[in-house]
Amino acid sequence: MQDYDEFLEEVLIFEDQLQERIRELAEEISEDYADQDLMLICILKGGVMFLTDLMRALSIPHTIDFMAVSSYGAGARDSEGQVRISLDLTTSIADRNVLLVEDIIDSGNTIASVLALLRTRGPKSLRVCTLLDKAERREAEVPIHYRGFEIPNKFVFGYGLDLDEYYRSLPFIGVVQAGKFIQQE
Ligand code: IMP
Ligand code: MG
Repeated sequence: MQDYDEFLEEVLIFEDQLQERIRELAEEISEDYADQDLMLICILKGGVMFLTDLMRALSIPHTIDFMAVSSYGAGARDSEGQVRISLDLTTSIADRNVLLVEDIIDSGNTIASVLALLRTRGPKSLRVCTLLDKAERREAEVPIHYRGFEIPNKFVFGYGLDLDEYYRSLPFIGVVQAGKFIQQE
């Protein structure tokens, strides 16, 4: 493993900025869903750090579940534009208020496919909460109800986001120095 110092161009969002923004989002969500049933769905793996910090900051009762989608061409879609689920939810979302928790929305294709699929399962409501929004890169139209930060079109890592599966545990969001990250076998 390389030390990330070698290819970290800059820290884009520091740990205290992340935590402060997550507390604000949690407050907003707690108000919006006060006295309502809430189910958070985390899309693995990138969303896990955000999910666990967000749920600890929520002041309302809620349940959690997980799903994973596998990439098939651009944005985890197959030829019919359907999302390919590699791990499905273990609980029903019928008549539940569902909030999708994502690490980053880039082209928007992944989340658009997941939303289309979940809508067919009859949730009472369905909203999206993303920590990062690379708005410049959007291809699919995605309604974002809760947004942590809009970021520039740069490849980022840390706080759930990986570089070839590593560095998800870093407490900050960093920008990769162009051409510096070498894949390890
Ligand atoms: P989309 O379908 O293009 O919106 O892709 C979203 C997925 O791509 C995210 O859930 C991430 O797994 C991955 N992704 C997009 N941009 C980055 C990045 O800058 N760093 C790490 N992963 C990224
Ligand atoms: Mg990834």
